[in-house]
Parts: sequence; C-alpha cells; structure tokens
Amino acid sequence: MRPNIRPANPADLPAITTLDEVCFDSDAWSAAAWAEEFARLGSDRVVLVADEGEVAGYVVLLVPGAVEDPVDLLRIAVAPAARRTGIGRQLMSAVVQRCAGRTILLEVAESNESAAALYRGFGFTEISRRRGYYAGGEDAVIMRWQEDHE
Ligand SMILES: CC(C)(COP(=O)(O)OP(=O)(O)OC[C@H]1O[C@@H](n2cnc3c(N)ncnc32)[C@H](O)[C@@H]1OP(=O)(O)O)[C@@H](O)C(=O)NCCC(=O)NCCS
Repeated sequence: MRPNIRPANPADLPAITTLDEVCFDSDAWSAAAWAEEFARLGSDRVVLVADEGEVAGYVVLLVPGAVEDPVDLLRIAVAPAARRTGIGRQLMSAVVQRCAGRTILLEVAESNESAAALYRGFGFTEISRRRGYYAGGEDAVIMRWQEDHE
C-alpha cells in the first residue's frame, strides 16, 4: 500500500513521538520537544507524515516566512519495518514540491549513507562540513538543494 503523505495534525503527536524513539534511540527528541514542534505548526514548522493507517514516517521542516531564507530539513525518518519501500522518497518528493523556488539545507552524519543517498537522489549536494560535530567525532555534512539543480 502506498502511504498518503499529508500534513501532521495534533492527533499524530503520540505516534510520531514513539516512532522518533524507535528511529533515533538516544538522539530522539523528547516528548516536550515534539510538543513544541506541534505547537509551532502553522507558523514556521511543517511536519508531513506518511500515513498507512498508522504513521510510517515523517519529516520536519523549519520554513521561514521570508522565501529568500532557506528551509531547514530538521528530521526525516521511516519506521524500520517499512524502510526501502519508497516512503522516504515519497516524503522527500512532497518536501521538494512544497519548497519550489526555495533553497533547502540539511545536515547529515557522514556515516549515514542511507540518508545521504536519499538526499543525493533529489539533487542535494554537499556544500560544507562541521568537523567532529557529532559525539564520537563524526563530521556533519551540510547539504543544499535548489530547484534549478533538479
Ligand atoms: C533515511 C531513511 C529516511 C530512508 O527512508 P526509506 O523509506 O527507507 O527510503 P526509500 O525506500 O524511499 O529509499 C529511497 C532511496 O534512498 C536510498 N537509500 C535508502 N535506504 C538506503 C540504504 N539502507 N542504503 C543505501 N541507500 C539507501 C536509496 O538511494 C533509495 O533508492 P533505491 O531504493 O532505489 O536504491 C530511513 O533509512 C530512516 O528512517 N533512517 C533512520 C533515520 C535517519 O537517519 N534519518 C536521517 C537523518 S535526520
């Protein structure tokens, strides 16, 4: 079944908080942090969910009001059992459609080959690094997408 990609609503908060723990373990956002994200829906936060009857994935964007400012892709994840079925790609398609005419920035750990491959597939390119940014000394790779790179 292809999931429906739709904006999150307040009823999704528990499912997303739980899925985030599953996907990010000790790097998961706290329940309070997720509540804060949801409180900002409709201002500068956009959360899209992949809905298969239950939430199978999500993406979080910081979308500044000024269109010349870059959109930050803060987080994307797909439930482990649902990976490699195209849901990440569906979420990213919705993101780039939503960000037409804008620039998107994101950070990814250099060892996160699955996420980096997903991003590269949409035309994201590395523009910079934060050396030793993550615990354990791993670099954060900063990637950028602009529509004319598609
Ligand atoms: C990154 C992530 C969102 C990808 O979601 P997904 O639904 O499995 O991705 P898709 O099935 O749509 O795959 C799309 C493309 O991404 C790349 N990709 C995804 N998983 C990959 C893997 N394990 N290894 C290599 N490439 C991978 C491939 O290019 C793939 O295309 P292909 O299947 O035609 O080869 C998922 O692996 C995930 O939730 N990871 C944990 C959370 C995370 O690290 N998020 C990013 C940092 S915020």
